[in-house]
Formats: sequence, structure tokens, C-alpha cells
Amino acid sequence: MIRTPRITHALSVDRRGLIKSAGFAAAGFAAFPLAGCKAQDASMLDSTPGSNPLAIPPLQSGEIEQGTRVFRLSLTPGQKEFVPGVASSTIGIDAPYLGPTLEMRRGERVQFHIDNNLAEGATVHWHGFELPAAADGGPHQLIRPGERWSPSFEVRQRASLYWYHSHLERKAGPQVYAGLAAPIYVRDDEEERLDLPSDYGVDDIPLIVQDRVIDGFGRLVYPLSMHTRMMGMRGNRIFVNGTENAVFDAQTGQLRLRILNGSNARFYDFSLEGDRSMQLIASDGGLLDRPHIVRSVRLAPGERAQVIIDLSEGRPLRLLASSPEIAMGMMGGRGMMGRGNSDDASGDVFQILDIRPASSAQRIRVPTQLASLAPTDPSSAVRTRRFVLDMGMMGGGMSINGAAMDMNVINERVPVGQWEIWEIANPSMMAHPFHIHNVQFRVIDRDGRAPPALETGLKDTVIVNPREQVRLLLRFEEHTDPGLPYMYHCHILEHEDAGMMGQFVVVQS
Ligand code: C2O
Ligand code: CU
Ligand code: CU
Repeated sequence: MIRTPRITHALSVDRRGLIKSAGFAAAGFAAFPLAGCKAQDASMLDSTPGSNPLAIPPLQSGEIEQGTRVFRLSLTPGQKEFVPGVASSTIGIDAPYLGPTLEMRRGERVQFHIDNNLAEGATVHWHGFELPAAADGGPHQLIRPGERWSPSFEVRQRASLYWYHSHLERKAGPQVYAGLAAPIYVRDDEEERLDLPSDYGVDDIPLIVQDRVIDGFGRLVYPLSMHTRMMGMRGNRIFVNGTENAVFDAQTGQLRLRILNGSNARFYDFSLEGDRSMQLIASDGGLLDRPHIVRSVRLAPGERAQVIIDLSEGRPLRLLASSPEIAMGMMGGRGMMGRGNSDDASGDVFQILDIRPASSAQRIRVPTQLASLAPTDPSSAVRTRRFVLDMGMMGGGMSINGAAMDMNVINERVPVGQWEIWEIANPSMMAHPFHIHNVQFRVIDRDGRAPPALETGLKDTVIVNPREQVRLLLRFEEHTDPGLPYMYHCHILEHEDAGMMGQFVVVQS
């Protein structure tokens, strides 16, 4: 069944709003103050599918100063109407909610000046980048209110979609949820030679997909209960670049969609209505070796994919997403914990984007060869490290290798320049997206099986299913610092905040 906004809102908002409000008050959590709210009845929350023009984040290319690309950004408190007429308090980067798409080129030096104009501390992490630990923007690079942080690094990444977001100690979840996240486009010569769609906002579209809990009054809430701590915060409404029921008017015969799962916890299987195919061209860290014809793409929080879709038939297309079941048995929200939060519903299909085609459009031609990637050769590895993800009883003991995140403990010391196998085991009953800072890795196998198309390229975040073991091949190429760590963690932000995170330093070999 297509979960249209009308059905979702009319049937569930009141009931869920009550359930949520109760949990919210009892837990004593106010993630951020909510202002300017007007009571709304459920009927006012209705809107027609595909009725709101998709917001496209402004493209920000900074300014070149003495050969360095300089970005000036400020973290600001904002107000956003997730439901018309009801303002919620948010956080944005030079915007009330989310922020500009930062555009940069491989090989150049970038410099940021980030002012924290919030009333709370924050961090800004460059997800997917190889960079000095001091510039990483993890929990150790706290920007206090009123302070400025000015990291600088050389862009080593291949052209792709990356992102920047809050990584505040224990509070990445609420800050990203409130809006502290935005895309990064890295461009390079390798990709430009291919002539792929790359006209920003025209035929090259970033889609930041985020679910949010909107209560019965139309307000954004972050109801952190025992259930949401365990399953992660999953919303009842879906926003793309902050737009609900988004529609995009295409002007070209093909579109390149760069999809970022920017949700705190929800996994999505993206597909086109009518089971139409898409050409999958890129993973987290850039182009795949060739386009893969796919009918669906699964993305966990933190993961990205790029697809090219064909509009040359001139018929409207609809991008959908369903929520795969990511928990086994009792922990699925249906047994031990009960269905206390029906937002966990898997099997529901969300409408992500309605695409209206151009009146006349020419046929799509994607090159058959995109990039040449080195073969994934595990025999080059000099050692294997093992990471075991655990949730403890009822999600009360989030840990990796038996230890919860401790800012004062370096869990791993990794020599620079050496290939290693990182073996990620998940004995828990829920899937976890494992993310490693400062590297783009390759997926060797899943329980010995070859990885799917999306995982044949470079990745920085990988799904580890319940009872599964995933092997990664990686190497840290430079930036040693024996004192300042990078993070590896589950990218379900509530799991990260609860301690499913560890720290490593890169050291001289
Ligand atoms: Cu996208 Cu450590 O984070
Ligand atoms: Cu990261
Ligand atoms: Cu997790």
C-alpha cells in the first residue's frame, strides 16, 4: 500500500501524537524548545501528494583566497514549519534548517570558518573525508557557543556525494535531527570526462531523505524513550531536503539523483513506482566501475547512492521508499517491546519524490565504463582487526568489543600505510550501519558471499545485518597523530549517542 500523506496523517497522527506526547513528558526530555505552535486538527495536516516543489539546498562554492577554497558558515538556531502554520525550533547552517551544498574539487585545499551561534556546543564532521584528525569534526572538536572553528585540509576524495553533520558527544542524534546536516559535492576530472548529468539542481539533484516525528499539533519532536533508544528515532513523516510530498519538474531527459540517507535510524529501499529500473552509478566514495541496472537500492543512515533515471518516455515517475525489517524476532518492536511505536512499521511504502518529465526529451546514454577501481585483494592485508557490535539487554548496553564509547580511551592504534581487514560481527538482533572515519574502504564479503552492486565501489558506511559478519579492506594513507583519535561507530545516531562507538589513532608504522 502506498502510504500517502492523507492516510498517514488522518489515521495516525492523533493517536500517535498522544502516545508520543505522553512518553515525551514522562521521560522529561525536551530536545529543543518548540515555539510559535498553533493547535491544529488532523484535517489541516493533509496535503496532496507531490504538491510541494522540492527544495534544493543552495550551492556554495566558497571563495578562492591565495589558492585555498574558503567557506564561511554559521550554525544558527532556526524555525521551520514542517506543517504549514506550525513553527518548530530547528538548527541550520546559514539557513533555518539543514544548510548549503558545499562544492569543492579533489586536490584543492579547503578552509572553513564555522561560527557557532547556537546556545549549545556543536561539532561539524566531514563524513567520508580523509583528513587530519584535528579537522575531522568528531566529538573532540567541540565548538562552544560563540566560538569559531577553522579547520583546513586537502580534498583527497574522489568525486561523489559526501555530507557534513553534527557529531556532538552523546547528542549527534538530536542535533542532526534538528537540522545540523547538509550535502557536500566533490568534483574531479575523472568524473567530468564522462559527461554525466552534473548541472546542479537541474539534472543533478541531491536528495537528503529524513524521517521526522511530527506530533498531533504539527510540531517536530524528539521523543527519546527506551524504545527509541533501542530502535533509533524513526519518524512518521518523510521529508526530502526538508520538503514533504515533494515534486520536481525535470527539464531534461535524464536525472541524476544523489540520495543521502540522512535519517537518524530508518533504513530505506528506494525504488521507482512500477518496478522500473534505474542505473546505479556511484556509492559513498564515488563512481562504480560500471553502471548497474537495479530496481531498488537499500541505504542505511549515513549511506549514499547515485542513480540515473530515464525520463525520455515523457511519463511522470515516482520515487518510493519502503522500510525493510532490520530487527529480528523479539526485538522487532512486535514482541518484547510491543508495538509501542507503530512508526517502526516495515512494509509501508513512502512516497519520496514525484518527478514530472520535460515535454520533449532525448534518450539517455550512460557510459558503459565509469571508473577503474583496483580489485579488492584481501591478500594484501597484513592484519585483521575484529569489531563486535552489541546492544546489551533491551538496548541498554550499546558497545563495540564489549566497551561503550569513552572519550578518554583509544581503542585501536592503526599503523599508517598498511592494508588491514576489519571484520565487523553483529551478534545482536538488529542491523547496524558501521561507519569508519578518515577512510573509504572496500567490502570484501558478507559471511563469505560477494557484496551487492552498491558495495562493489568505495564505501565509508556499511550495513551489518543481524548475525552477519562483514569483512572490509582498508588502509589509512596519511595524517598520523598519536594523540587525537578518529571514530568508528554505528550510524544509527541513537546507538552512536548511547555508546556504540570507538576511537582509533593512526600512527607511524
Ligand atoms: Cu556521519 Cu561519525 O559520522
Ligand atoms: Cu564520518
Ligand atoms: Cu546500531
